[in-house]
Amino acid sequence: MTTLWHGRFADGPAESLWQFTVSLPFDQLLGPDDIVASKAHVRGLVRGALLTQREGDTLLAALDQVASELSDNSFKFVDSDEDIHTAIERRVTEMAGDTGAKLHTGRSRNDQVATAFRLWCKRAATEVALDVLALQNVLLGRAAEVGNAYMPGYTHLQRAQPILLAHHLLAHGWALSRDVDRLVDARTRLDVSPLGAGALAGSSLPLDPDGVAEELGFARCFDNSLDVTSDRDFVAELLHTIALLGVHLSRIGEEVVLWSTEEFGFLKLADAYSTGSSMLPQKKNPDIAELARGKAGRLIGHAAGFLATLKGLPLAYNRDLQEDKEPLFDAVDQIRLALAALGGLLATATFDLPRMADAADAPSAAAVDLAEWLVEQGTPFREAHAVVGAIVRDSLDRHVPMAELVEAHPNLGPDAVALLGIGVAVTRRQTPGGTGPDQVAEQRKRFESRLRIDVERVTPPSA
Ligand code: ARG
Repeated sequence: MTTLWHGRFADGPAESLWQFTVSLPFDQLLGPDDIVASKAHVRGLVRGALLTQREGDTLLAALDQVASELSDNSFKFVDSDEDIHTAIERRVTEMAGDTGAKLHTGRSRNDQVATAFRLWCKRAATEVALDVLALQNVLLGRAAEVGNAYMPGYTHLQRAQPILLAHHLLAHGWALSRDVDRLVDARTRLDVSPLGAGALAGSSLPLDPDGVAEELGFARCFDNSLDVTSDRDFVAELLHTIALLGVHLSRIGEEVVLWSTEEFGFLKLADAYSTGSSMLPQKKNPDIAELARGKAGRLIGHAAGFLATLKGLPLAYNRDLQEDKEPLFDAVDQIRLALAALGGLLATATFDLPRMADAADAPSAAAVDLAEWLVEQGTPFREAHAVVGAIVRDSLDRHVPMAELVEAHPNLGPDAVALLGIGVAVTRRQTPGGTGPDQVAEQRKRFESRLRIDVERVTPPSA
């Protein structure tokens, strides 16, 4: 087998070396980005008079031909194709002969791979962020649709205070906004062109890294050739960002699982977004929600694993860095599938609003409202807390309705009883960002405008 680097070697590569080191099975995804970067490199070589215009045109035409072979699957890989980058160069050389042999002038696979991967990552960050925005839109739509429906809010998974369902849905929406923010931020930081860094030290040839960077749509060119050929911070950052996004989806998933149990009964999943049991005919299972939860473990593993790959590496390029691709490709695939499936599930599920309201209507849910009512009458809060706590305990111990005890209490009385009325407590949270209906309506407007701004931020200027 003849490799691109055969010149220095008397013997061919061992089969086990080859099997262990090739990346072609998983890096073909970078083909289109390698072609784009190679074309920009060729134009840079022409500008530097390292290629004649004619040679440049020959290489550009060959690269276009390779692109079309790759896209219609007619590209024939051979055994000596170590990765997608060598495969493309090998094919260009077959078509363009001696001129093809000039394609790699002033370039190393180290800057070449990093360039193609950064181009891929910029696009992936955009696509994931757009998918997150789509899920946020589902949450917003559902929040608008359920209006002032209320449910128990929980802490420690114990009923705490009534809240609007819309408030709960938007809480997940805001967490996702931070994910969009992180994706955009990571994309800005990775927007650096490595081409021209060579293997590690730059080049003796008159290359045009700035021109190449500009043509490729990178915001800037590298500052340090050692750094840029060995830097995979951008991969670690995206893996972390996606893992955290996965954790958010996992938390939504966990609630969907709980809410769709008979015990909670807050949510019914649409048939198209639930699964059945192979044995138990009556079952309807929330597998999407469970996998959204389960995949988070895998995504966390990718992030943690890749940091471990990076931690001991001396400058500059080491082959360990080839381990950057599989985790990120997988993370992007999995998170996009999860976002789409969970979005479909949430868009089509039915909330059992009466059941949610019922669960929130226990008089004890208004306990803090009674205490705050006492505060308004001049009682110190700690004292008010104790008064109401004693009423709750008394009501439970003696099976006397709370309303009766409140009515009879010297500091409370009939005015305070009104607070225990069905659906009253939730309307009283009128502080900004709280769950009162007016505040949630305000919040919904803020969330809507945040989504509009984020679509702008995420959408690349060229699109
Ligand atoms: N497929 C390899 C990668 O993704 C190519 C780099 C090999 N470079 C080298 N100097 N051996 O990292």
